[in-house]
Amino acid sequence: MKLYRVKDYDEMSKKAASILAAQMVADPESTLGLATGSTPVGAYRYLRKWYEEGILDFSGIKTMNLDEYRGIQRTDSQSYYYFMKENLFDHVNILAENTHIPDGEKADADEVCRGYEALVREAGGVDLQLLGIGRNGHIGFNEPADHFERECHCVDLAESTIEANKRFFEKAEDVPRQAYTMGIGTIMSAAKILLLVSGEDKAEALYETLCGAITPQVPATVLQLHPDVTVIADEAALSKFERR
Ligand code: GLP
Repeated sequence: MKLYRVKDYDEMSKKAASILAAQMVADPESTLGLATGSTPVGAYRYLRKWYEEGILDFSGIKTMNLDEYRGIQRTDSQSYYYFMKENLFDHVNILAENTHIPDGEKADADEVCRGYEALVREAGGVDLQLLGIGRNGHIGFNEPADHFERECHCVDLAESTIEANKRFFEKAEDVPRQAYTMGIGTIMSAAKILLLVSGEDKAEALYETLCGAITPQVPATVLQLHPDVTVIADEAALSKFERR
């Protein structure tokens, strides 16, 4: 595992975008695993900028997103489908048919999850998977649990996740209670993983992820077992290390 300590959110975002860009240049037909939430927004901003400057070409790139709320319309501004269009896809020359997100509009969880798992496999797996982390150590929407769920599945969101994500909605009751997510096995099958962590509210989760025992109660701890993980964390996210 490689750990980069950066000053702040912007430095984290620029470094993350550089790593994603390097992957795209090295293999213009890469499959990128993408994430949502506030953490990757800055990295997507850099990717857009470098595309506008003619540095990056998305025409051969395929993307597989980590997760989506269940029971949300694509036109809903809180759907991850909408998020990806707004933050990246609508601003670069990626082909719509090359972008993939679990279909939150479909209620049949088995169909959505089995289909999505197959799609990842058909794409030949993910070359570089971008990850954020929840305050409770979740990755994608793999919430703390008694075991690691291997494949794409439907989850009941933890109260703490609903609480953390309500900032994007008008009120807490509007936050969907379920989501479709890549499983831990799906995520771990990516050739490379890039984990971004910013802010003091993630300090405990990051400390546990890097130094804690591997446990499904802190899903991100499983990353200790992956052979090619890069973590970019800012000073606030690393504050727990300095104190201990
Ligand atoms: C969300 C997403 C995760 C994300 C995490 C942190 O619920 N499902 O993929 O990494 O929670 O979000 P944020 O980056 O907004 O802190």
